[in-house]
Amino acid sequence: MDPYDQFFYESIPFPETHPRHLASLGRLFGLETADPERCRLLELGCASGGDLIASAWFSPDSELLGIDLSHGQIARGRELIRRLDLKNIELRQGDILDLDQRLGRFDYIVAHGVYSWVPAPVREHILVLSRQLLRPGGLLYLSFNTLPGWRMRGMLRDILLYACRDADDASTRLERAHAALTRLERSLQQLDALSARYLREEIAQIRKAPPSYLLHEYLAGENNAFLFSEFLGDAGRAGLRYLCDAELAGLFPSTFGEAVEDALADIGDDMEVEQWLDFVGARNFRRALLCRDDARVEDALSLDIFAGFAFSSALVPPPKVDLRRSKPISFREPDGTPVAVRHPLTRALLLEMHARQPDLVPLETLLSGASERLRRVGAGQPAGDREGCLMELFSLFCHRSVSASPRGRSFGQTICHRPAISSLARGELAAGQRHLSTAQHGSLDLDPFSRLLLLHLDGGNDLEALCDRLCAEIRGGVLAPPGGVGTGGRLRGRVAEECRGLIGLFARCGILDSGASAKY
Ligand SMILES: C[S@@+](CC[C@H](N)C(=O)[O-])C[C@H]1O[C@@H](n2cnc3c(N)ncnc32)[C@H](O)[C@@H]1O
Repeated sequence: MDPYDQFFYESIPFPETHPRHLASLGRLFGLETADPERCRLLELGCASGGDLIASAWFSPDSELLGIDLSHGQIARGRELIRRLDLKNIELRQGDILDLDQRLGRFDYIVAHGVYSWVPAPVREHILVLSRQLLRPGGLLYLSFNTLPGWRMRGMLRDILLYACRDADDASTRLERAHAALTRLERSLQQLDALSARYLREEIAQIRKAPPSYLLHEYLAGENNAFLFSEFLGDAGRAGLRYLCDAELAGLFPSTFGEAVEDALADIGDDMEVEQWLDFVGARNFRRALLCRDDARVEDALSLDIFAGFAFSSALVPPPKVDLRRSKPISFREPDGTPVAVRHPLTRALLLEMHARQPDLVPLETLLSGASERLRRVGAGQPAGDREGCLMELFSLFCHRSVSASPRGRSFGQTICHRPAISSLARGELAAGQRHLSTAQHGSLDLDPFSRLLLLHLDGGNDLEALCDRLCAEIRGGVLAPPGGVGTGGRLRGRVAEECRGLIGLFARCGILDSGASAKY
């Protein structure tokens, strides 16, 4: 039985595979990429379509096709498509090896988490087929495990494969692998050797990931890693040209510090620099973007083109943002990671983006709002500021703290008196998903409180009614009280506070129904 039919892969949207991100990167290199809101996209190895279905729902003018070998996963995805009544997406069960030009041409082709996990003939066909199916300005997104960095991860794979050597079915393999991880954790806890520290970190990462990741990454029958240069050769022979990685920061030696910049300064060839950066950073995974080898592209990135994009950011500002001085202050990623921002104008731009989340807003519009913020606090704008701010914004984009699109996009999120969630969110909840897809093509993990709140956001409950229901459920033992309060007098205030915070978060994620209008 197909291992993916035995145990489904947890299929979620990845922001770096979205046509908005791909189109932006392509255009920075001078490629005439298709409008990301009106494009034709193919995903090879789409599992149950978690990445594609969200795209189809948020971009109704695009046409999406997903192919996967696993009958069960395709059936699950089709069920959600039927529930959402989407007409612009199709999921097909099939083998990549059987695909050919009859599929037609595509603006974007995505193969995420597939290339390293299939045998050589399938890998070769992915490259050849993609070259045949890409339109002239088209882009292929292809991720794969890289050498030599992956060899470190391979150490854990060897241990886990040993632990599962006599087990065939997926659940026994998972059980044995978890038992081995627990034994390893216990054994390593007091060791300070480099290998012990590395394994501890890897195990902590695995513990955070869904079980399907452990099964299909570490215990997969096929798991092949490649040198970047080897991959470039294979892609080139298929008529594809490497453009960049979906995460731009890794392209620049400066990301790794001055010592790396100095040590690699005499390498003239950009591809060799990238190969060396893989060595230096012990990189184990790449997200390569490739175009046709007959496409016209520029070697250098254009900041002028970047300035024409629309932007959005989930960075959370500190409670008080100094818009006068250039001393770096920390904004935070949603997971709490601090991000230093130096320029007052960049800070004002990020405040604008925060206020307009999840919309993608053209830079010129953001700049006028940001200038107004600076004016209100009496901060001037030296002439050089815009240039410096643009460089800083570009750096934030390279590190994925800011997302971009060649065109603006509003998601119509207004928090109204009786909020309702979107049909996509309702469908995903009904399908039992542990996460919801967001407007920026990410995913929001749900805890029991937010799940129950979402179920009550049906357009019929105001804040009072939501609190009544949730407090009753907490007192009835259905739900744990939020933030450790008991079931006494403070409960209602705490529940109301939690609801307000979460509804704001749902709006920033584009999860609310955009039809509602009355203010909250
Ligand atoms: C690791 S999963 C990745 C799924 C998805 N792209 C993602 O990143 O969430 C790999 C997928 O490739 C599919 N697959 C493997 N070999 C295939 C083939 N020859 N033809 C079509 N799909 C294949 C598997 O069924 C599985 O769903």
